[in-house]
Amino acid sequence: MNDNIILIGFMGSGKTTIGRALSQALDKTFIDMDQEVQKQENRTITEIFQTDGETYFRNLETEFLKSLKEMNNSIISTGGGVIIKDENINILKDLGTVIFLHADVEQIINNVGHDKSRPLLQTDDYKETIRELLESREGKYLSAANIIIQTTGKSIVSIVNEIISLL
Ligand code: S3P
Repeated sequence: MNDNIILIGFMGSGKTTIGRALSQALDKTFIDMDQEVQKQENRTITEIFQTDGETYFRNLETEFLKSLKEMNNSIISTGGGVIIKDENINILKDLGTVIFLHADVEQIINNVGHDKSRPLLQTDDYKETIRELLESREGKYLSAANIIIQTTGKSIVSIVNEIISLL
């Protein structure tokens, strides 16, 4: 197994912010999966979904994870839907310690708001969509995780310190 730390969790659970802070605290490289996929494709996630659809995006995610095979000493922040495919979960487990950032639904709704950059939430009732997606994914996040961190109401610093104390 490689020695990376992989952050998983729903949209708006703080994966990118906490990943960046953790990488600074531990002096490790930070990799943001969504950013990397957008860079590779030279277009935004919204554009990818609009032009080629969700299945195409999901394949890009898997290809990106496969490309990390030799990666070590990094903090990897994933997209919220990475756990949909069992294949991805297996790759993540090989890459290192998987940490599930668990936030309450109200916190997620607050964090995400009316964000136009998240194609799955452009529905008539984004709050209901969040509740439904959370319910369908919760079990997957839990089964993929080595460590579960409750983030609701905690500061970035305290979450980072909690993660470090558990490594
Ligand atoms: C998605 C989450 C997003 C991004 C895409 C799909 C999802 O990442 O990958 O919009 O299916 O939950 P974040 O969790 O970083 O917002």
